[in-house]
Amino acid sequence: MLTCQKHLFSIPDEISYLNCSYMSPIPEPVEFAGYQAIARKTMPYEILIPDFFEPVNHLKSLFSKLINCDDPERIAIVPSVSYGISSVAKNVKISAGQNIVAIDEIFPSNFYPWRRLTMENGGEIKVVKRPDKIEGRGRVWNERLLEAIDHHTVVVAVPNVHWADGTLFDLRAIRLRANEVGAMLIVDGTQSVGALPFNLAEIQPDMLVCGGYKWLLGPYSMGMAYFGERFDNGVPIEESWMNRKDSERFENLTTYQDAYNPKAHRYNMGENSQFIGVPMLTAALELILGWGVENIQEYCKNLSAPYIQKLVELGFHLEQEAFRCNHLIGIRLPSEINLEGVKNATLQRNVYVSYRAGAMRISPHLYNEPKDFERLVEAVEAVIKN
Ligand SMILES: Cc1ncc(COP(=O)(O)O)c(C=O)c1O
Repeated sequence: MLTCQKHLFSIPDEISYLNCSYMSPIPEPVEFAGYQAIARKTMPYEILIPDFFEPVNHLKSLFSKLINCDDPERIAIVPSVSYGISSVAKNVKISAGQNIVAIDEIFPSNFYPWRRLTMENGGEIKVVKRPDKIEGRGRVWNERLLEAIDHHTVVVAVPNVHWADGTLFDLRAIRLRANEVGAMLIVDGTQSVGALPFNLAEIQPDMLVCGGYKWLLGPYSMGMAYFGERFDNGVPIEESWMNRKDSERFENLTTYQDAYNPKAHRYNMGENSQFIGVPMLTAALELILGWGVENIQEYCKNLSAPYIQKLVELGFHLEQEAFRCNHLIGIRLPSEINLEGVKNATLQRNVYVSYRAGAMRISPHLYNEPKDFERLVEAVEAVIKN
């Protein structure tokens, strides 16, 4: 069982940071990898041609391991989730009468590219609404999602864990249903991969994209994406020279190539060597793999359980266990508790959480300890007493 890893982070004792789903702090080894990488750029004569490619390939193999993908060539480096989703949307054919199934209040990066696609080509986005009734909400929402997928569905665009309230979507069931109608499954794993086990071999998404600055504990402006076979002959949204065949032969770059490097290479962002970002994200993924994702999830569960239970006793609404996870917990305030009061009381105690879609979003990680949750419960109790 993992113990608290706060010693690897520079979060002061008086800060209770329960907001990893907003942005993670970077662990010290990641910070140092960044400093070293900056120092290296003062000596460009030490940065050689293999340095443009080999560290990226290593990072791709680490990410492959994290998601249980057996082929690192299916991984691309992207600057953002919107970039990754735009890359696949550019390669999806849709016309009037067809649809894309998405969920209510999906993160905008997994919405706008689909909206553009349907605006330009016809078709519609079917948004599966979050059920109003709190009882059994996650289960009913999942059922409605499956029902919405029909023979006109081209793409199902979903997260694993809803970014705003933590609802868990059953990707295996969604994959099976999407297969029945021949639809693609496009997954935004930003709020889950790194903290909740993700088994690519089992779920077989057509594409998975993850921003790097939350649960991957990496820098901003860098993420990782998996592209399945359906995109092997697609057209990327930018034409980086680095993605073309023989791009490592710098003396020959203007012998222009029609061929891309295989599989996901064509979807790598330009300048994907990212001499500062790649070593940082590499250090982060090495840490996560060393800890083990299932252990991170278990740590968050053991740490949060008694305090979440306490909040439930105070009247908060919590999703059923099968439809939620333990690293991103959305709990809804009972109507009699004043939201602004709770916001102020938490901030006064240096407790950082988010408020999204009517829920308080609590997102712990290995740097959190019981006292962080004690402060949170204390803040809520103080508001109730007033
Ligand atoms: C589910 C989800 N996807 C993506 C992002 C970030 O998207 P992008 O990388 O396009 O800025 C966030 C940020 O909060 C998110 O919660």
